[in-house]
Amino acid sequence: MPADLLKGQKAVVTGANSGIGMATAVALGRAGADVVVNYVAGADDAGEVVERIRGFGVRAYAHEADVSDEDQVVEMVARAVRELGTVDIMVANAGLQRDSPLTGMTLAQWQKVIDVNLTGQFLCAREAAKEFMRRGVVPEVSRAAGKIICMSSVHQIIPWAGHVNYASSKGGVGMLMQTLAQELAPHRIRVNAVAPGAIRTPINTSAWNTPQAEAELLKLIPYGRVGDPDDIADAVVAVASDLLDYVVGTTLYVDGGMTLFPGFATGG
Ligand code: BGC
Repeated sequence: MPADLLKGQKAVVTGANSGIGMATAVALGRAGADVVVNYVAGADDAGEVVERIRGFGVRAYAHEADVSDEDQVVEMVARAVRELGTVDIMVANAGLQRDSPLTGMTLAQWQKVIDVNLTGQFLCAREAAKEFMRRGVVPEVSRAAGKIICMSSVHQIIPWAGHVNYASSKGGVGMLMQTLAQELAPHRIRVNAVAPGAIRTPINTSAWNTPQAEAELLKLIPYGRVGDPDDIADAVVAVASDLLDYVVGTTLYVDGGMTLFPGFATGG
């Protein structure tokens, strides 16, 4: 990835203190963007991410905010505009799981996942879009007035027993993204989603941290390896950059083929 691909751009990454968000924040900084490292818990980790990003000679700071809280998201974007001048890239990444079979799933488990994974992306997209529209296109910076990247999942389209809250939230993210893409494209705002498969992060440790679990997981991945956070981070940088300026309203699956119905390679 060229080091100056995102030179002069300002990015906000939610949930940037761990996993995919952390790798994405670092990759955006490496590509020349200034970065707001959002976190809701894990201030120390967020601070370390900030230091790594500053090592690339760009600006970065950590900002605590719960993406499901309207006032906190409004303030997060307002502060980015105050401190960095504007926002060019919003990576709505923060997400979580609260797994349970349907009959044991509490309303609180359902609501928490929808609030963070879906409502959080709505709020972040809304606040970013306001700033993109206020500023408009600055051709020296980017061909677009702004880019919104929704962190989705293969479970945007793959049903997932025992995870109905999570799968529903990601299905919703797919339609949120497409509808916003349609609505905002005339303003030269590009909205897209990146949909990871199984990536080695804290959210799914039990799916890969023993040889047995990893062997089971690999049955679902035609490409034969579990993904790394950098696989997703590099995809986000590409989607955010003008290299993909004509990509609008698309979901980029970064999943080693998990969405290819691998069971049908031999069955069916
Ligand atoms: C989930 C992970 C899971 C992966 C593939 C992701 O969206 O967060 O827990 O391993 O999808 O099923």
